[in-house]
Amino acid sequence: MFKNSNPSGTLAWHNLRNHFEEMEYVKMQDLFENQPDRAEKMHVSWNDFLFDYSKNKITDKTMELLLDLAREMDLSSAIQSLFQGDKINVTEDRAVLHTALRDFSDTPIWVDGKNVLEEIKAVQLQLKDFANGVISGAYRGCTDRAFTDVVNIGIGGSDLGPQMVVRALESYRNSLGMHFISNVDDDHIECLLQKLDPETTLVIVVSKTFSTQETIQNARKVKKWFTQTTGQPDCSAHFVAVSANVDEAARFGVAPENIFPMWDYVGGRFSLWSAVGLSIGLAVGYDNFEKLLKGAYEMDLHLKTEPLEKNIPVLMAMLSIWYNNFYGYQTEALVPYCQFLEKFPAHLQQLIMESNGKNRNREGYPVNYQTGTIIWGEVGVNAQHAFFQLFHQGTKIVPVDFIGFVKPFSKDKENHDILMSNFFGQTEALLNGKVGANYQSAASDDQLQPYKEFGGNKPTNTILIDQLTPKSLGSLIALYEHKVFIQGFIWNIFSFDQFGVEYGKKLARSIQSEFESENISKHDGSTHFLLTYYLSKR
Ligand code: F6P
Repeated sequence: MFKNSNPSGTLAWHNLRNHFEEMEYVKMQDLFENQPDRAEKMHVSWNDFLFDYSKNKITDKTMELLLDLAREMDLSSAIQSLFQGDKINVTEDRAVLHTALRDFSDTPIWVDGKNVLEEIKAVQLQLKDFANGVISGAYRGCTDRAFTDVVNIGIGGSDLGPQMVVRALESYRNSLGMHFISNVDDDHIECLLQKLDPETTLVIVVSKTFSTQETIQNARKVKKWFTQTTGQPDCSAHFVAVSANVDEAARFGVAPENIFPMWDYVGGRFSLWSAVGLSIGLAVGYDNFEKLLKGAYEMDLHLKTEPLEKNIPVLMAMLSIWYNNFYGYQTEALVPYCQFLEKFPAHLQQLIMESNGKNRNREGYPVNYQTGTIIWGEVGVNAQHAFFQLFHQGTKIVPVDFIGFVKPFSKDKENHDILMSNFFGQTEALLNGKVGANYQSAASDDQLQPYKEFGGNKPTNTILIDQLTPKSLGSLIALYEHKVFIQGFIWNIFSFDQFGVEYGKKLARSIQSEFESENISKHDGSTHFLLTYYLSKR
């Protein structure tokens, strides 16, 4: 278990604060001028990843001090605790073992006297058999027809991760149609169901708790559609479940052999590696799912074994702390130059903000420094035509992760070169900017000159990967998972609970019962006004 330790009280933090005073107005353009080979030094090559962090407001001294902070906080022991299954999710009294789901070693991992790798491997076999059966047509629906479509019902971690991966691996897809229902929105669901044939549709209800109102409501609705349209009261051949609450899934009507268990030591937002990823196994086949796991496993080994100076998740986490806690930049953007990664920002929003959006330290007291950053993003080049204006000329500074791939799948590389020239061109523009030589006399020479100026000096990371494959995707996702873990640890918060989200769920339930009784109880003035309006109009 991690000790309570205020990072802002460390010597390293104190030194960083002093160093920040030297760095605050330093321009990256000058840093490059004085050290043209920065990129040679400030990059890490690992597997098919190139991580270039030279376009940051840092010197060698900054990196030394940031890594001093990691050392002083004893990050290495924390990493060990994570992997060995210590109960670091203290507020829920749980281990945090999404890494065990992709552990290809045979070294046991013990939790409460049980080697968790045994149950994990057993469920992986169950998942493999099932996915192979559906894809080959051996596993069929109640009228003996092969499945053509799969509907994944779940929300948050039971939706975002699998949906993101299924979309990202579009180039590896088989012919199964994949659909995701997350929102409790009749219009969306009915629109989807109209297009599906219930006799050839397989439904996966994914809910770790099997008590999330939206998911259970949606599952009931789809079950009703199934029984009414097929006239078959028994839907067991068409409904499978993924849950840590096996009893509740069975009560819902899922056959016991079609319930894929998951466990308390896997958090929802880290669960795509578990049976929650069943939709991935179905969409791209189990072998590709396994490659995804292998990619993540290799990133786990990288985190565990690389020295801090060459450790990509550590470097990314500490750079982000530098901007968040010293420069005071509140947000970070990520821009993948790849259409198939369009769901990646949304997945990372949950992963990062649900984990590190915390204001209490590990002893329950308010923290006296900033924690979780605001994450946002969109695929490039689309993002360039949406919000890059603010990056280049706005008053706020947003550090950006640029994620790109050297090779596309297409044999025609014409578009890819255009895509990637934008990728490189944007980081160059953000670094160098463009300042008119005659700025002082601009008014007379060219009144538009000031508006055309770009100050540059905007920090970016470049993550350049050979190709988007199941394996590289696994590594990329795991990279960000580890960044989250490292930052939460350094910030002395608990990253693995989510009480903030749970309170909202409670309120929604009580408002729902007020709708049922048409009786609005006591609320603040605004909410009371709005509920009354809604009831009078619905
Ligand atoms: O959004 C809150 C949350 O608890 C997430 O952490 C989780 O991924 C999601 O709800 C869904 O929960 P469940 O899988 O239990 O339905």
